[in-house]
Amino acid sequence: MEKWMSIKCEICGNSSWELLNEGQMISVCSGREVLKNSPLVKGLCTHCGFVYTLRSPLDEDLDHYYRQVYSSKLKSEVYDYKNYSHGKTFAETLNTFVFSHSFPQKGRMLDIGCGKGFFKEAFYSRYPEWHMEGVDPSVTSIEMARKKVPTATFYTKNFIGSDYQAGSYDLVCIHAVLNRVPSRMFISEVERLLKDDGLFSAEIVIFPQAPFELFFADHTCMYFHEHILALTEEFHLDLVSEDTKGSKWRFLFRKISHDKISRRVELDRQRENIKDAVKQIVANWQRVFAKIRTCIAEGKKVAFYGQGTTLMIILSNTDFPQKLIYGIYDDNPCKVGEQVLETTVQQSSAAMQAADAIVLCAGPEGIPAMLKTLNNYQGLVIHL
Ligand SMILES: C[S@@+](CC[C@H](N)C(=O)[O-])C[C@H]1O[C@@H](n2cnc3c(N)ncnc32)[C@H](O)[C@@H]1O
Ligand SMILES: [Zn+2]
Repeated sequence: MEKWMSIKCEICGNSSWELLNEGQMISVCSGREVLKNSPLVKGLCTHCGFVYTLRSPLDEDLDHYYRQVYSSKLKSEVYDYKNYSHGKTFAETLNTFVFSHSFPQKGRMLDIGCGKGFFKEAFYSRYPEWHMEGVDPSVTSIEMARKKVPTATFYTKNFIGSDYQAGSYDLVCIHAVLNRVPSRMFISEVERLLKDDGLFSAEIVIFPQAPFELFFADHTCMYFHEHILALTEEFHLDLVSEDTKGSKWRFLFRKISHDKISRRVELDRQRENIKDAVKQIVANWQRVFAKIRTCIAEGKKVAFYGQGTTLMIILSNTDFPQKLIYGIYDDNPCKVGEQVLETTVQQSSAAMQAADAIVLCAGPEGIPAMLKTLNNYQGLVIHL
């Protein structure tokens, strides 16, 4: 038996896995780096439908990856991803949600996986009297964060709960990190670190809205909404409010001292639907790859619309030949001019529509806007 078959599910504790992408070798990181010739194994928990990375090419050297290699969004101090389905950057979307709640004028907060400090900067500008701490292993991220908020205390290392004092924080934040780390341990530490009635702000990617996570080497936890609610409830974190835009959900929880069991029932009720939905995502990828392989066999010239991780997954997993790339297009001005293989990314335009086929490289949130742009294109359109 492979050793990872005994890994316990982060949500329900069982270790019964159905492998989702057996034999699939090529994965990507969120910074779009392609990892070849090393297996990525994702398993579906047959009990609760949680998808977990059982083995990743990054396993051997995860610490080095986050300290030195991790590049997502580190282009410059101000660069941030923008979600074109609703026109806001990731930081703007998060800040709009969190600051729709008001916090006391004084308090103590810990931002776990604080990255380059967008959130801290925004929090400081509204609540300058708070004592703020941030921890992240990424050296470059912490350097950038320190410049944004010199008065905060930063630790350049992995989060380990015992480094921090129990019951001493009014607010703990974990934004865009829980997909990458052992979430049960992190959330149990949130409960320990918070004061009674303290708040927990979380942002996570939800799998059905981000099917590309199936190929992500650096995402270990692929949640459905029911999974995160079941897990937080187990640690007495009661939902205050939630919000979704794009592939991410944002949540505010409050630590409570008594048990409420209503939401776990929701996971129990939904698990068969969740497992079906996961299998549908896997089947959709296989359908897209099969269509693209047919295009290759027929020598069709293919345009790719959307430059990001989905594009890298498709090109690498179909071994798409350079000579059949009609062009790579994107609506994001930041991406225009970037080089992918030997192709320069162009602004999407009518010219794209002369290709034999167009592949929409986006998740379910981005596809409708792309289809609108294509208007009455007569060729083959391929998307998840
Ligand atoms: C997608 S970034 C999110 C950054 C920031 N919170 C934001 O919302 O922009 C994920 C961050 O998690 C950090 N990270 C990864 N493993 C970690 C760990 N074990 N402890 C703390 N942070 C970690 C990474 O270095 C990276 O900066
Ligand atoms: Zn499970």
